[in-house]
Amino acid sequence: AKKYYKGYIRPFIRVGPHGYFWMAGFGDHAEDIYNLEVRPDDIWVVAFSRSGTTWLQELVWLIANNLDYDGASSTSLSARYSFIEFPTQAPEIRKEKPPSGQKHHSATVNDFRNLHTLPSPRFIKTHLPLSLLPPKLLDTAKVFYVARDPRDVAVSFHYMHQLFRYFDEGVEFTEFWELFKKDLLIHMPIFPHIEEAWAKRDHRNMMFLFYEEMQKNILSVIDKVSEFLNKEYSTEQKEKLAKHLSFENMKKSSQFNFGKTADKESEIKFLRKGKSGNWINYFNTEELRKEANDYIEKHIKNSDLRFPEIN
Ligand code: A3P
Repeated sequence: AKKYYKGYIRPFIRVGPHGYFWMAGFGDHAEDIYNLEVRPDDIWVVAFSRSGTTWLQELVWLIANNLDYDGASSTSLSARYSFIEFPTQAPEIRKEKPPSGQKHHSATVNDFRNLHTLPSPRFIKTHLPLSLLPPKLLDTAKVFYVARDPRDVAVSFHYMHQLFRYFDEGVEFTEFWELFKKDLLIHMPIFPHIEEAWAKRDHRNMMFLFYEEMQKNILSVIDKVSEFLNKEYSTEQKEKLAKHLSFENMKKSSQFNFGKTADKESEIKFLRKGKSGNWINYFNTEELRKEANDYIEKHIKNSDLRFPEIN
């Protein structure tokens, strides 16, 4: 992994019960994050990268905020949610100088050290697994978790590595998949990340969702989330929200397209394809497809975790 993440993340560390691969700086702050004070009216959105975090954030925020579309369009998603571990991977903490002409790196809302100053209700986003978050989190606040078929995550994660130039050099998907399988990518391993949340899916404060379920029936997810947050909306309001949350609509908005290259038509976007089962096009030999299926089976063999059928 050192070879691949050369300039970007060094040194990296392995933390938590499953040896999660995290970036420089996290080790210094893991304890502070673990000890963060959770408020009962906090709303947390937790997911492995590329699993639908952004999509779920927008859905949850609007439902919790009485469908305030004006608020949603006038304030970017990254200002509406604190991405708590962000500064631990940001240059400021890696002790690099801010870009010339800038005094600070921008990360105020997205800094766990400022969390106690934010008004309630706070909206918090994280890619950290539950075991690295405050142990009282679930007993105190509402938590949304979204999981996605790891094969689709792998494809999307590969694009993200290109978008954010995580690697110094381009890596073909097949090579990336080898790293994915061996948990040699940031945030890995993915299965324990999902399993930790899956194990808590019946907790009164946990709403566990699948990306595939959101794809299949966004209206029923809107219903579930509304009920969970004690909100009631009319059919019309829910249909309007479903339209707002469509891939085509969200893709149009610059606030969901992070990353340097996002505004250029021909290049990779943060909102890329927005489909389930698209992995099949990247695992393009019989052998690779079998291997991908075996990989999933091996990991769910001793568990009752099952990703929803997509057809
Ligand atoms: P793809 O790269 O497969 O398109 P995260 O926000 O966790 O990083 O997840 C990003 C993935 O969610 C990307 O997957 C992105 O396109 C998809 N996504 C974001 N908004 C979506 C939406 N409204 N509908 C469907 N997929 C969406």
